Amino acid sequence: MSTPPRGKMPLPRLAELKRDGQKIVMVTAYDAPGARFAEDAGIDIVLVGDTAAMVVLGYEGTTVPVTMDEMIFLTRTVARSARRPIVVGDMPFGSYQVSDEAAVENAIRFFKEAGADAVKLEGAGPSISRARAIVDAGIPVMGHVGLTPQSATMLGGFKTQGKTAEAAAQLVEDALALEEAGCFAVVLEALPAPVAAEITSRLTVPTIGIGAGPDCDGQVLVYHDLLGLTEGHLPRFVKRYASLSREIRDALEHYAEDVRSGAFPEQQHGYEMPAGELEDFESRMRSPSSSRASAQARKRSSATAKAQAPAPRSEPPLRKTSSP
Ligand code: KIV
Repeated sequence: MSTPPRGKMPLPRLAELKRDGQKIVMVTAYDAPGARFAEDAGIDIVLVGDTAAMVVLGYEGTTVPVTMDEMIFLTRTVARSARRPIVVGDMPFGSYQVSDEAAVENAIRFFKEAGADAVKLEGAGPSISRARAIVDAGIPVMGHVGLTPQSATMLGGFKTQGKTAEAAAQLVEDALALEEAGCFAVVLEALPAPVAAEITSRLTVPTIGIGAGPDCDGQVLVYHDLLGLTEGHLPRFVKRYASLSREIRDALEHYAEDVRSGAFPEQQHGYEMPAGELEDFESRMRSPSSSRASAQARKRSSATAKAQAPAPRSEPPLRKTSSP
């Protein structure tokens, strides 16, 4: 594993926070301002979630379509601005399902090209071997069990998981297996609070809950949900801390009104020139010689533009040559 950049929160600090009973704070971010705000708020972990598909890329109700290249682009943007928080790149659907080798290759892209400190992948089963392979390659991995949106279709939709004793016991096994595979933390999404509490007490690595009750070692929310940028239905586990979409809509409507009515821009939004220069400029513009000269200049520049215009499409292009 490489040495973390200066000022970066050390990964082992997360396990210390768990041991000390101090809560870990995680939030998603998808761009530089979001990363900066998270850093300034003292957030511990910034997840560049594949929820990007829904909250920034405009796909409805699914995280599946977001690609590796899109995730790399977003993660690089966040990693540039979030210096202290641990930046986790979320491996999108298709980037780790095929084989351990493909999973390691794609995790390396997050680490090397995007500057992520760690990656996250969803599920147990085959994901356990993927997690182990990525950890063996020297890249920290965060697990994710419970409601795993990439497999929402198989799970019967965005539904609470672990509601039967059997399903709950399986979730405990899955989380333990992810810890055993080397994950440094496990996200628990949409499961009954007592199940999340049981998993949290059995794991030595921290659990980060989202809709998993108060006993997890930390909590995560999606940036757009907590800031009130998401419109329409929200899961019940979301708490809104602001109503930014309302503010943004109001501001844009106000701006449009101002432009149309001429109320914007005002004098304070423009630039001035020294009074003498302005007078001189105006008198030049008014003098007949100036208008004749500028008409001639216009004529000359239009003749030059015609001469330089590309040959019509039907003719072969002019070859550039260095010979005289
Ligand atoms: O993609 C995401 O934002 C997530 C969080 C909801 C944990 O996986």
